[in-house]
Amino acid sequence: MLEPKSVLMRPARNVLGSLRVPGDKSISHRYAMLAALAKGRSRFDNFAPGADCASTLGCVRALGCNVERDEKGAVIIDGLGPQLKESAGPLDCGNSGSTMRMLSGILAGQPFTSELIGDESLSRRPMKRIIEPLTRMGAEIRAADGDCAPLRITGAQLHGIEYRPPVASAQVKTSVLLAGLLAEGKTTIEEPARTRDHGEIALRAFGADVDRTRNSVSIRGGQELHPLEAYVPGDMSSAAFFMCAASIFPDSNLVIDGVLLNPTRSALLDVLAAMGTRTSLVRVDEQHGELVGTITLIPGSGGPVIIAGPQTALLIDELPVLAAIAPYTAGGLEVRDAGELRVKECDRLSAVTRNLQAMGAQVEQTDDGWRIPGRQRLHGALIKTFSDHRIAMAFAIAALRAEGETLVPDADCVAISYPAFFEDLEKLVER
Ligand code: S3P
Repeated sequence: MLEPKSVLMRPARNVLGSLRVPGDKSISHRYAMLAALAKGRSRFDNFAPGADCASTLGCVRALGCNVERDEKGAVIIDGLGPQLKESAGPLDCGNSGSTMRMLSGILAGQPFTSELIGDESLSRRPMKRIIEPLTRMGAEIRAADGDCAPLRITGAQLHGIEYRPPVASAQVKTSVLLAGLLAEGKTTIEEPARTRDHGEIALRAFGADVDRTRNSVSIRGGQELHPLEAYVPGDMSSAAFFMCAASIFPDSNLVIDGVLLNPTRSALLDVLAAMGTRTSLVRVDEQHGELVGTITLIPGSGGPVIIAGPQTALLIDELPVLAAIAPYTAGGLEVRDAGELRVKECDRLSAVTRNLQAMGAQVEQTDDGWRIPGRQRLHGALIKTFSDHRIAMAFAIAALRAEGETLVPDADCVAISYPAFFEDLEKLVER
């Protein structure tokens, strides 16, 4: 076995330059799953390169679809239509909650039984949130303790439901929409707070009719999908690390090209603005329903920032890095209503607190967030990543303005979403 890679981070003076980030993870998962259900050949450029989306591709292949790369590196999927083939073995979702939860929606409507497995972290994450609605739609699902993977899903002819999920989760919404596509009648989901809407947008891009009003989405079952050729926009949640890095150095100047600007994913721009960083959007374009453009960013000094309520759900993946840079900001940061962070790849509330404290920061952890004062000086430390890609990347960024060196052990966990993260970061950092 290969030794886990450690990365030693040295302080930086500045963040300068331009880059493109890898394709969006959320969109890549959805495109791959919908391509499986669309009869014929789909092709995706800039498909997310991380291990999570590779897990989805592996499952799609195990369910009978041809999956390959063309000479340009694009992902090709030959979809089978609404009925997939029974997998010969368990479907391995690796570390990917998106794969397990969203694929369950498809498996719930198949005429066979599937087993879904995941790694240690994924096997601890709550699955009741999809088991409940999918069971109501007619599937039979068995889970360890009724909540966790491995999941055993016996598909059925589903029927549409009206569902109000207790948590705001785009994975749950998409899972139920995918099941709704395979169900008889109409399925409606009314969310407690707005979440990323790539499921709805991707369904439309593959030819399905989806109705939306504020927080409610409906789909009619039995609609046929057509294959899609698309370029996956750059992942805003990956760009967030560089944008946060640039925002903590007064002389930074950063340009990010071809990044996803979907309003349900770009709340980070508002937060950075409140922290004093000016961003401007140029060359904004629409691709298959998703907004894509170039962001330029020039830092400045702002006031205190509070992230709470519906805004928290829209920033859920960016909160670790925002917390990691908060001590360097002028006004500090308070985050509320982020209890969901406890059930991500690790308990991200505790992981962030632990690492900020290791770097000498003052931080108060609450039940569902943090209070982090600004204008602090941090020192380098030994980080604990909890094998969580976003924790490793968040503290690689915090390390840039600390005094002394910071060691990020098992740094290769970044490959879950961003295999070239450290290489790309080094290209932008001035020392
Ligand atoms: C995702 C939704 C979010 C997010 C995850 C990706 C998606 O999870 O944290 O990284 O692609 O739908 P939840 O649905 O659990 O909030």
